[in-house]
Amino acid sequence: MSLIEVKDLSKQYFIAKRQEGMWGAVRSLFHREYLTKTAVEEVSFSIETGEMVGYIGPNGAGKSTTIKMLTGILVPTSGEVRVGGLVPYQERQKNARQIGVVFGQRSQLWWDLPTIESFELLKQVYFVPDEQYRKNMKIFTEILGLDEFYQTPVRQLSLGQRMRADIAASLLHNPSILFLDEPTIGLDVVAKDRMRAFIQEMNKERGITVILTTHDMSDIEKLCKRMILIDQGRVMYDGLLSKVKDHFGKTRILIVDLERNFPQLRVEGAELIREEGVRKWYRFNKEEYTAAQIINRVSEQAEIVDLSLEEPEIDAIIRQMYEQGF
Ligand SMILES: Nc1ncnc2c1ncn2[C@@H]1O[C@H](COP(=O)(O)OP(=O)(O)O)[C@@H](O)[C@H]1O
Ligand SMILES: [Mg+2]
Repeated sequence: MSLIEVKDLSKQYFIAKRQEGMWGAVRSLFHREYLTKTAVEEVSFSIETGEMVGYIGPNGAGKSTTIKMLTGILVPTSGEVRVGGLVPYQERQKNARQIGVVFGQRSQLWWDLPTIESFELLKQVYFVPDEQYRKNMKIFTEILGLDEFYQTPVRQLSLGQRMRADIAASLLHNPSILFLDEPTIGLDVVAKDRMRAFIQEMNKERGITVILTTHDMSDIEKLCKRMILIDQGRVMYDGLLSKVKDHFGKTRILIVDLERNFPQLRVEGAELIREEGVRKWYRFNKEEYTAAQIINRVSEQAEIVDLSLEEPEIDAIIRQMYEQGF
């Protein structure tokens, strides 16, 4: 059996429909109508000990909902989930002892307390032995520079500091599995790198199994060999990142601003994928044509006043996977 096993896992949210006006409100007392939203739909995957897997997808794809089922916060609508042999929502306490969790959007620390006191409280909550606490605090402080803000209440920390405090806190009890839900969201490049370096070190040195959700492709590129790509609650791809990059890394996108608008301007060898007035997006295969060739072909037909080149972003890759399949 794998360390983490998920089979045909689904989660639907039921949202009470609001009825208009006073009579609507009265009617709602007796008869409530619900909208259902399928956030996760028949997701299956398994993860082995020591892996670091990227769970990636655009906003609203169902990433956080999946993590919440893995941590036991949410009960699945259907399907199976096992983490270290436990069913998380049935054995939430026991599961909590083997996992660490960081939600990038929300701190798990005590908002009003000096940061160090949150650590001390967690030490009590998880019955962390003194020696282990001392050792962990020393290592985490060294790598993450926690001592900068030990005495600062969590509410006053910068986002980067808060994330560093949160990830350190999640590892005090030496969990073997770490769930990170958007651990780099909103961080600047330096802070992102610091988080990533720490995550990498914990995976390498401690053999912690890491599942990291993100909508930022560069997190995955820096950290994970394997990615599970989800969109609208479904797994679109599960496999090596390198394979996707070989396949989709060949495309480049040329963005040009023309001197005046030429609607639907066609260029041989490139596909017009988007246009907004004078701005056009052309996708081409860099193994077939150079950017210079495509630029020439545009400028033969229209004057270019500005241009840039882009590598495909995760959203573009997902669109492409939709269009072409994988
Ligand atoms: N508590 C909730 N009630 C109703 N709908 C929700 C709730 N949480 C999330 N959703 C919806 O479920 C979908 C998946 O959300 P989420 O798992 O948060 O996605 P992600 O983390 O990938 O951005 C979205 O359409 C979101 O609006
Ligand atoms: Mg989320």
